[in-house]
Amino acid sequence: MLVKTFGCALFGIEAIQVTIEVNIDRGINFYLVGLPDNAVKESQQRIQAAIINLGYYYPHKKIVINMAPADIRKEGSAYDLPIAIGIMAASEQVSTDLLEQFVIMGELSLDGTLKPIKGALPIAIKAKQEGFRGLIVPKANAREAAVVEGLDVYGVETIHDVVSILNGELLNQPVTVDMAESWQDVSFEFDFSDVKGQENIKRALEIAAAGGHNVILIGPPGSGKTMLAKRMPTILPPLTMAEALETTKIHSVAGLIGRNATLVRTRPFRSPHHTISDAGLVGGGTYPQPGEISLAHNGVLFLDELPEFKRTVLEVMRQPMEDRIVTISRAKMTVDFPASFMLVAAMNPCPCGYYNHPDKECTCKPGMVQQYLNRISGPLMDRIDLHVEVVPVAYKDLSDKQRGESSAAVRERVVKARKIQEKRYAQYPAIHANAQMTSQLIQKYCELDEDCRTILKNAMNRLGLSARAYDRILKVSRTIADLDGSENIQSGHLAEAINYRSLDRDNWGS
Ligand SMILES: Nc1ncnc2c1ncn2[C@@H]1O[C@H](COP(=O)(O)OP(=O)(O)O)[C@@H](O)[C@H]1O
Ligand SMILES: [Mg+2]
Repeated sequence: MLVKTFGCALFGIEAIQVTIEVNIDRGINFYLVGLPDNAVKESQQRIQAAIINLGYYYPHKKIVINMAPADIRKEGSAYDLPIAIGIMAASEQVSTDLLEQFVIMGELSLDGTLKPIKGALPIAIKAKQEGFRGLIVPKANAREAAVVEGLDVYGVETIHDVVSILNGELLNQPVTVDMAESWQDVSFEFDFSDVKGQENIKRALEIAAAGGHNVILIGPPGSGKTMLAKRMPTILPPLTMAEALETTKIHSVAGLIGRNATLVRTRPFRSPHHTISDAGLVGGGTYPQPGEISLAHNGVLFLDELPEFKRTVLEVMRQPMEDRIVTISRAKMTVDFPASFMLVAAMNPCPCGYYNHPDKECTCKPGMVQQYLNRISGPLMDRIDLHVEVVPVAYKDLSDKQRGESSAAVRERVVKARKIQEKRYAQYPAIHANAQMTSQLIQKYCELDEDCRTILKNAMNRLGLSARAYDRILKVSRTIADLDGSENIQSGHLAEAINYRSLDRDNWGS
């Protein structure tokens, strides 16, 4: 007897429908065709054990399984379940009446229970698009998939549950997620009010958040750089539904959505260690998987101790940073992963860490401060708009009981400034925030009056700022003006922006 079941293959962050044909005939042997990888080929053993251990019957006949389309490689163990159900249906142990209405995915244990799969959300989206009535996935993935409206999602624990559903017994019990409810009360583990003092640093981070600017924090160990960076997501605008879906899809195919979790609702904060590989950072692998820059999509990528990263690793990040997407090419396919993130970097000012420290002596030899900075490639530095020097808060101030401003209050101002930018860039679909302005847009929206032009010129000369500082200063001024609700960039805005270019000064490190 020939039956068909349906599954999905993952391709980047999208799913593609896969049809699994199972034919049982006289004879013996098991044939699996249609470009399966090793994990799929090994499924026969798991399936046979699971079926028998649950008390069903495993047909010792000629079983031929064909997975189509044949030009897409099928990887992983998540096809166990649709193949097992196909074998059981073809041997008349499951009703075939509803089989064509469901996409089924799940990895089997030998005892017939199911393990979670990757990509439940993109699979659910695809199932809906293809007009399926429902999706059957392991219970741990059900809430994630149930985010998709108009699709009945069933979470199953064993093959028994799938048999019941396909026999029409549990059809009235799909998993539901109350979106309105789960969309509210986003809460964070940290808050900016935990940080004592550092008002000027918080201000700089507020500007970065408001204009989508990349930022680098420079300061001695223990000055609070990591603490401050971790709190960045708490002052960024809340995720929109579209952003949340996209970020969740990426985390879903990477297998990072927790059991019973639904959407990623807070902006991600990713902080890979400086020993990370190219592929770990930008994505890669035989079956391309998203890297850290994609896991940080719509959120923050925090590179702590930036000069410690291998230059080549940072180099591969440049193009994706520009394009906000990373393309991974393989012999037979090209996969895109979104990678629109805000870069927050941190570094010690020098190898010993104490250059410019208020009360500790720097023990580095002359020239080493500059050398240390030079480890970061120029083109990467070019993409960082704000340089912020962090000076540790004195001990007596750390014990101060008074709490600083809350993240919520800061976020409110950030959201307001972002609204102004949305309106300004409404006609430019690729531009959402000041940090993304092209040179033409800078000319158009960062016009300076006579006074401001003089201030900027003098500052460039006096501080010995490099030419690349010029555009950065204008963009940041624009954001400061937006936070101020000001149509024009005023001298105060400009003066503040000039402050955030420490590393461009020709006397830095001497
Ligand atoms: N301004 C501050 N307010 C409160 N705690 C602080 C502050 N600065 C530093 N700390 C404390 O010092 C610890 C070390 O800070 P950390 O962020 O790791 O420094 P860095 O990353 O610059 O080396 C923090 O976990 C925090 O407990
Ligand atoms: Mg740190």
